[in-house]
Amino acid sequence: MVNKSQQPIDSFKVRAAAKVNLHLEVLGLRTDGFHELAMVMQSIALYDELSFQINSNGVIKLKCNIPSLSIGDDNLIVKAANLLINRLPDEKSHVGIDISLYKNIPIGAGLAGGSADAAATLVALNSLLNLKYTFSELELFAQELGSDVPFCLEGGTQICFGRGEILEPIKLKENKMGIILVKDPSVHISTPWAYNLCKDIRGHNYLSNESDFELRRKKLRESYWLINFGKVNDIPLKNDLQEVVYPVTPAVEKSLNILSTIPDVIASSMSGSGPSCFAIFSDYEIAKSTFSKYRSIFDNEGLNSWVCPFINNGVIIL
Ligand code: C5P
Repeated sequence: MVNKSQQPIDSFKVRAAAKVNLHLEVLGLRTDGFHELAMVMQSIALYDELSFQINSNGVIKLKCNIPSLSIGDDNLIVKAANLLINRLPDEKSHVGIDISLYKNIPIGAGLAGGSADAAATLVALNSLLNLKYTFSELELFAQELGSDVPFCLEGGTQICFGRGEILEPIKLKENKMGIILVKDPSVHISTPWAYNLCKDIRGHNYLSNESDFELRRKKLRESYWLINFGKVNDIPLKNDLQEVVYPVTPAVEKSLNILSTIPDVIASSMSGSGPSCFAIFSDYEIAKSTFSKYRSIFDNEGLNSWVCPFINNGVIIL
């Protein structure tokens, strides 16, 4: 979390960063019904912006620039706010919050937009309401909200195990890499749908014991590209969900076909449960100049597109 300036005490603004998956390996099924994962997540400079203002009418009121997004109790921002406000002592329980969300991260895209917004809400309300929760306590709240929410607090580059909430950060001073990201705006993928499909198709091959899981975790931690992350350009992107989503989602096939024809691309992949796909470049400047040549092709193919550097943070306090 980055604090750029002193804030007035009754309002707060934050940015929530999107992520892509450099590695998403489905190891097996857990007794709680979730999948046991081995992932590497990477924050990118594609942000939602949220502002928070205390009100005295005791309600949590969310407004958003995207009319199709639910602003009710099922929204992860409202869930995060309720989680903290329900724990306030009685004398403060009348507190309400006006929240304004400006969404740039596409919805249902595999970029953890909703999780990033939830993480941003925890950070913002912790400061705004002077709650004094430690980072570890915020991580526990984040786990309750969703598997990707803990990663989104600190962001950057992290190995993620368990459901996604057991984090091993990879600290880098500088990372010059960047991506071109594309998404078909007419396609939204539900994460439970993608994991259920994976279970149906690959479930018979899942690993089933902790020692096998641990071997895979060790293999990922010790992989050449990860030990030398930021120093080598050789990143063998992997996404097990891509294998099951690709054959039934023409938008993913189209996106990956186009990205694979672009010169200077190190590798391309779907992110998370899709349908967003991205291509990595060793240098963000190369990604930018390539993007200027390809943008009209993405437009003509009906794909939304972005060019983003890798970043070393998740929630940014403005
Ligand atoms: O944790 P979150 O609410 O984001 O997960 C959404 C859904 O994705 C879960 O209900 C589950 O179907 C699937 N999932 C999973 N294993 C994980 C993470 C998510 O099966 N590790």
